[in-house]
Amino acid sequence: MDSFSTLIRTASHAQHVEAETSTFMSDLLGGRLGVEAYARYTEQLWFVYEALETAAGRLASDPVAGPFVRPELLRLASLEADLAHLRGARWRASLSALPATEAYAERVRECAERWPAGYVAHHYTRYLGDLSGGQIIRDKAERTWGFARKGDGVRFYVFEGIANPAAFKREYRELLDGIRADDLEKQRVVAECRTAFALNTGVFRALGEEFPLSA
Ligand code: HEM
Repeated sequence: MDSFSTLIRTASHAQHVEAETSTFMSDLLGGRLGVEAYARYTEQLWFVYEALETAAGRLASDPVAGPFVRPELLRLASLEADLAHLRGARWRASLSALPATEAYAERVRECAERWPAGYVAHHYTRYLGDLSGGQIIRDKAERTWGFARKGDGVRFYVFEGIANPAAFKREYRELLDGIRADDLEKQRVVAECRTAFALNTGVFRALGEEFPLSA
């Protein structure tokens, strides 16, 4: 039988492809968008990580979610540095969530409050993605908009405290495999991962509408 981490990965594969190939992501990775689109996307991430990380302190002692909560993953401070670079010192004054982002953050908060294993599904979907495909986005952003390598503007993608991402991801998958949950609960977590991907795709869709290509 497949391990839980393999199950999650396989179950969300189709949606991963969908997110990766969304119009907004394709345009971003294709270097076809202006820096304002990237700033708007970074701003949306702020709301998602605010929800994930406000809950992290409390969930650190939770038997299910606790082992996943690691300080070296925390992204909010990096997002804030990036936004200050992208939008200026007063970035907070103009911060606004798209409805799709609001829905995403709300679902994260709900899980954090009521269902720690569901929170893990959201945690996995974001942080393991950031450690993987995030690096491709960083590379492209640096080249497209001229950010310094691993510098201001792309700090969100730089995990200073994780020297070996591959090893970190391996350990993370072992944690997933060690979750003490019955099959039904595991199925629910898998379904929540799919929801997490769908919520990301929803944000991409909204961003795609806001930044259509004129060409
Ligand atoms: C253009 C956008 C993206 C690219 C190029 C990309 C690319 C990748 C790559 C190369 C991997 C590594 C697979 C491996 O370890 O063999 C990966 C893993 C992953 N990505 Fe993405 N990705 C993108 C978007 C996303 C999005 C939007 C999400 C969800 C929010 C996401 C979530 C994940 C997750 C959770 C993993 C870990 C899978 C696992 O090993 O369990 N990715 N991605």
